[in-house]
Amino acid sequence: MTLVSTVPVSLKERSYDILVGGQLLEAAGELLRNRFGPRHILIVSDDQVAQLYLGRLRKSLLVTDYDLKEIVVPVGESSKEFGCLEMLISDMLEAGVARDWLIVALGGGVVGDLAGFAASIILRGIDYLHIPTTLLAQVDSAIGGKTGINTTLGKNLVGSFHQPRLVLTDTSLLDSLPQRELLAGYAEVVKYGLLGDESFFDWLETNGVALIEGNPGAREYAVTTCCTAKANIVSQDEHEAGARLLLNLGHTFGHALEAEVGFDSRLLHGEAVAIGTILAFDLSVRLGFCSASTLERVRKHFEFIGLPTRLPVLQGHTWRSEQLLAHMMHDKKIRKGQQTLILARGIGEAFLCREVTEADILGVLRTYAG
Ligand code: GLY
Repeated sequence: MTLVSTVPVSLKERSYDILVGGQLLEAAGELLRNRFGPRHILIVSDDQVAQLYLGRLRKSLLVTDYDLKEIVVPVGESSKEFGCLEMLISDMLEAGVARDWLIVALGGGVVGDLAGFAASIILRGIDYLHIPTTLLAQVDSAIGGKTGINTTLGKNLVGSFHQPRLVLTDTSLLDSLPQRELLAGYAEVVKYGLLGDESFFDWLETNGVALIEGNPGAREYAVTTCCTAKANIVSQDEHEAGARLLLNLGHTFGHALEAEVGFDSRLLHGEAVAIGTILAFDLSVRLGFCSASTLERVRKHFEFIGLPTRLPVLQGHTWRSEQLLAHMMHDKKIRKGQQTLILARGIGEAFLCREVTEADILGVLRTYAG
């Protein structure tokens, strides 16, 4: 095991650490025993991740004599449905879960959201921790306690804030991640540079490719930097009333794109966020907040790395700006009918803007969609 950094998330009695390093999965048993003592453990994973990593985690936990149960759910977003939550809760109760048990979410965002939500409501709430296996989960979704499921009316509309007790971030698990997923996760990595840390964006311009290609040092540095940034934001604003909203840079446009294709795998969340980020910078230029050369710098970096900067051509689908605007008006951040967008004055200078009109949004959408 190489423990590279311990990033604290400071939330009074709900504080916890994010441990970042390589081969942490093999050390999970020891790390958990040191922090939590002997506990019953219930691992929740998906069938794809379970095939790759459940055996290694089990071995590590059994060496330290844990009493262990496992539940495997189908891979993919469809597991974040009411029916699957109900099944998971029933399986957990049948496994004998009690208040002193520890739930371990082994997987990406879907597993973390689902298992975290189940942990937050079962027996009125029990402890869980996350071992994130995707880049997106390692730098974003595993941190900050957002848990939840989807409804037919939209993504993540039912959920809770339930902070994990620990996040074990093993960057060597990214070695098995398909390139497309890695790039999609990179959209969230670059977000931290764009929203508040120009020097990190500079670093990514030089080292982003090494990160994608699997350089362990580059991965550990980037993941630690993102975790530190997110931990600081969450510590200031756990329930997303202010600073945490900045993490939605590119997401309002991105969610509209995802909703338009029905949240299916033709457009991954990170891909939608990448295009959404370009739209947010473009709108910032149009409204006079940001220079055109900044937008070009962002676009150039995305193209260099391999992130999308335009709406993809999808067979049988025509993008329509009015339709995208309609999706945007269903956003959770709408207040009194007024859209709240995250715009930018420059790289590392994102801000919350409540003065954007529908006509402004339509104007930028029309240059990308019909
Ligand atoms: N993914 C954004 C947040 O956790 O606030």
